[in-house]
Amino acid sequence: GTLAEIKERGKLIIGTEPTFPPFEYVNEKNEIVGFDIDIAQKIADELGVELEIVNLPFDSLIPALMSDKIDLIVAGMTITEERAKVIDFSIPYFNANQAIVVRGNEGFMPATLEDLKGKRVAVQLGTTGDLVVSDIKEIMVTRFQKFTDAFLELQNKRVDAVVLDEAVANAYVKTFPKFVVSAIIDTGEKYGIGVKKGNTELLEFVNTVVSNLFKSPYDLLVEKWFEE
Ligand code: ARG
Repeated sequence: GTLAEIKERGKLIIGTEPTFPPFEYVNEKNEIVGFDIDIAQKIADELGVELEIVNLPFDSLIPALMSDKIDLIVAGMTITEERAKVIDFSIPYFNANQAIVVRGNEGFMPATLEDLKGKRVAVQLGTTGDLVVSDIKEIMVTRFQKFTDAFLELQNKRVDAVVLDEAVANAYVKTFPKFVVSAIIDTGEKYGIGVKKGNTELLEFVNTVVSNLFKSPYDLLVEKWFEE
């Protein structure tokens, strides 16, 4: 919806896929929480409306945004040229690379994507991790909607590695110490919040909220007392 429609409705509806800690995940109380959710809450607060979170498969987020089922995508989504053809992105809010995660106790320690040739690799369908491994035809790729299922597959030895965003890889390894990060693939990604094309007022509003997040309390005071 437009800025006016969101205010009228009294609710900001965001779409996300919550198997992506610490950006979005389901906690013990069955609530979706995380870094992205706090950013979304901030946007809702600034708009003076409630926040509603819609849980969707990652590859359904862009279609849901384009068909107005959600107002924003807040899902650790990398700004890519392909995606930017169909939706708009906010200013970047987080830098990311891909990581290779393996079981760790079996001597298989891939250092590069090349080392995954002839191996079975799990990814999340439609992610940038999916793209980088699918680029190498000798890799046997299995695509999952949930990262939790990709890691289950790794645990059950039905795949040899999982490829996903570095910060999220670190979060999974922390929870499941039997997994290790064997390599970082420098992809130089940046996350942005997805906004429907043409929804300029909402995009500008989101950009203001995100750019304010980068300002220190001191910067905000200087702005308040010395500028304009
Ligand atoms: N950054 C990657 C991408 O844009 C993965 C994002 C996955 N996000 C999620 N909430 N499952 O493709």
